[in-house]
Amino acid sequence: MAKSLFFGGKGGVGKTSCATAYALGCAAAGWRTLLVSTDPAHNLADLFGRAPGPTPTRMQAGLDVVELDPDHETQRYLEQVKATLRPLVSGERSATVFRQLDLARHAPGTEEAALFDALVGLLLDTGEKYDRLIFDTAPGGHTVRLLALPEIMGAWVEGLMQRRRKVRSDYKAWLGDGEVVDDPIQETLMRRRGRLAAAREHLTCPAHSAVILVANPERLPALETARTRELLESHGLHVGAVVINKCLPAEVDSQWLANWREEQRPWIEHLEASFPDRERIRIDHQPHAPASCNDLAPLQEALGRLAPWHDHA
Ligand SMILES: Nc1ncnc2c1ncn2[C@@H]1O[C@H](COP(=O)(O)OP(=O)(O)OP(=O)(O)O)[C@@H](O)[C@H]1O
Ligand SMILES: [Mg+2]
Repeated sequence: MAKSLFFGGKGGVGKTSCATAYALGCAAAGWRTLLVSTDPAHNLADLFGRAPGPTPTRMQAGLDVVELDPDHETQRYLEQVKATLRPLVSGERSATVFRQLDLARHAPGTEEAALFDALVGLLLDTGEKYDRLIFDTAPGGHTVRLLALPEIMGAWVEGLMQRRRKVRSDYKAWLGDGEVVDDPIQETLMRRRGRLAAAREHLTCPAHSAVILVANPERLPALETARTRELLESHGLHVGAVVINKCLPAEVDSQWLANWREEQRPWIEHLEASFPDRERIRIDHQPHAPASCNDLAPLQEALGRLAPWHDHA
């Protein structure tokens, strides 16, 4: 199965730049690589010079890119739910059930569930095609929520299954003939539980998956990053490294920038002290915001230090 790496962190810290730079490095090293954006505000098109689209698209030798589109995934997800339910609900009721499903499209959580379903699909079904899955995630808590979902949804599906089992045993008792009743819903739930368990196993195995936390050397991102590490670990997820991006380089040429660099220093130290047992990578603030894959070369080089860990973990 492919190894997966999730780049997470607060808004604007450099997740997209780092995930893309690292994916380019993986492809250059000969790994069949898929770069996945789960951030609804996609911006990979700018770096690659063309839009990747909602299914994996070859962008460079050895590198495919996909931008999971919440609308597209929600549509696909609800169609799948409808297809499962179609043989189970009878004529009159089906119109009501399907209308409710159409409304569910806008309910809180539906989009997240759909994105998650797509993520599980990538984790479990593309293993033969790729060696590396690199995820560029949406800012902040979104990543934690997304990665913790197999645990939460597993418990939810388990609850549904228990209720279903109760209904079936009541039903058998009413019929009084002890016949085993075929239950397609139960089967669907069991399949889903199996996939969630497999996804969770993959996500919580440090040899297969890790989160790379990207932060800037400033007060709030530094403090939040240490907390995010704890939160991810409390869900059994492995945090592989911290990337401290946009550090002002040693040779800045004005007093004003030198002062700013001094302000960064305690937060670099704070971040490094929060990850004493993990890879810590500093990346310089570049003179220009990287606007293309070529501009990402310095980031790619710095992130190359992740490779030995990622290759042999
Ligand atoms: N090391 C760097 N030096 C200079 N500019 C950088 C560096 N890293 C990223 N940037 C710039 O900072 C901005 C934010 O970077 P990026 O889009 O990678 O962050 P993000 O964490 O993905 O943001 P969002 O949370 O909005 O998705 C971009 O303009 C990017 O080009
Ligand atoms: Mg981004």
